[in-house]
Amino acid sequence: MAARTCLAIVLAAGEGTRMRSARPKVLHEVAGRSLLAHVLTAVARIEPSATAVVIGPGQDDVAAEAERVLPGAACFVQRERRGTAHAVLAAKAAIKRGVDDVLVVYGDTPLIRPDTLRLLRAPLSAGAAVAVLGFRPAAPSGYGRLVTKNGELLRIVEEADAGANDKAIGLCNAGLMAFDGNSALAILERIGNRNRKGEFYLTDAVEIARGMNKTAVAVEVEEDDVRGINSKKELAEAEAVAQARLRQAALDAGVTLVAPDTVFLSADTTFGKDVVVEPYVVFGANVSVGDGAVIHAFSHLAGATIGNGASVGPFARLRPGTRLGEGVHIGNFVEVKEAKIEAGAKANHLTYIGDASVGAGANIGAGTITCNYDGFAKHRTEIGEHAFIGSNSALVAPVAIGAGAYVGSGSVITADVPADALALGRSRQAVKEGWASRLRALKSIGRKKA
Ligand code: UD1
Ligand code: CA
Repeated sequence: MAARTCLAIVLAAGEGTRMRSARPKVLHEVAGRSLLAHVLTAVARIEPSATAVVIGPGQDDVAAEAERVLPGAACFVQRERRGTAHAVLAAKAAIKRGVDDVLVVYGDTPLIRPDTLRLLRAPLSAGAAVAVLGFRPAAPSGYGRLVTKNGELLRIVEEADAGANDKAIGLCNAGLMAFDGNSALAILERIGNRNRKGEFYLTDAVEIARGMNKTAVAVEVEEDDVRGINSKKELAEAEAVAQARLRQAALDAGVTLVAPDTVFLSADTTFGKDVVVEPYVVFGANVSVGDGAVIHAFSHLAGATIGNGASVGPFARLRPGTRLGEGVHIGNFVEVKEAKIEAGAKANHLTYIGDASVGAGANIGAGTITCNYDGFAKHRTEIGEHAFIGSNSALVAPVAIGAGAYVGSGSVITADVPADALALGRSRQAVKEGWASRLRALKSIGRKKA
């Protein structure tokens, strides 16, 4: 039998009102990735025949995020926010094209896994018209309740409309539903808005399907897979679950996390073999760490590629555009941004390297600063291989230091330095013999005893 075709509809309309935020809810992040990106990534993994994303009017930022993550997805605008069923119908044109399964996923359930989506679709091929994911949250308040009888799903009652008996039900609606494509539209178009909120609830589909002599089933899954996010508290709870999963995956892949609970990862962090991560390290989005690298304590990394055997930190900050070659050392209180540092180069202490390239084997002394910004534009600093930059030097970009050149400590370098030259950009030292004794004689005091 041919695999059933599937239209996935991701509901993403709405502002961040309940999040107390100006940012749309689905653009909030968990593990360095937007809620919407998490959902779309999971959806893409089950290879639907088409994906529709329902956004609110003017939510170009949400559309752009959908486009970035899943370029094939079609966005549909829900003109007014009138409920989840109303949102699904914004994608009516896509449903009308005809598919075997219509899968509805809420954009605020970022922990969803592809296997859970597959599990939800399974009852449709067995003849169900509607399948609903259910779970038993530790705190059910706020979720719709699944009313069941002898294993059958009778209806879903929203929290706002629930009486005491319904509220006592522990089995809740996860916010993911699958519909048989043949009856999906007929069911959806019958949904009304006669409830406390005056919204078109997708959850009413269950009772309507039953009224049409069709079956609805609930598929129970773990809470962590389907946590919905309506508040900053729930966002933080989802973050904790995501972090626990990512740490476990890193440990399973052989990364040494000395104190796993203190390390924060992004959904896209990648590690080579035999990597060691010391306590209290934060990995922002888009970091890859090569084989045998060590990330020392209290470092913050984002948008960085770290070569094999490199050493980073403690207390290092790697910002986007950082590329460290093999065996590079970036030590304490060193910040790197938009810079390529070739194999074996070292910047061990108190340095800023921004908009720069550093050749292999170069040594950047303590306190070196690339002065990349003149108040208007950013400029580049090129440091050749095996160059030696003396401590406390300011390299005023645009400027190039040739291969093998030396820069004397404390220099302010404003002009290019040829290969193998010595550049000194500081005032010459003056020594005045006997000057201090003459001063003391004048003041009639002896040299202070230690
Ligand atoms: C919904 C369910 C509830 C379930 C919970 C799970 C309904 C009526 N209720 O409640 O049973 O327990 O999710 O997390 O479905 N959206 C739109 N347009 C709208 C309304 C919502 O696109 O008009 C989108 C939102 O962006 C969000 C999702 O649909 O991603 C769910 O909406 P939300 O308001 O969070 O629903 P809940 O009240 O959490
Ligand atoms: Ca929600």
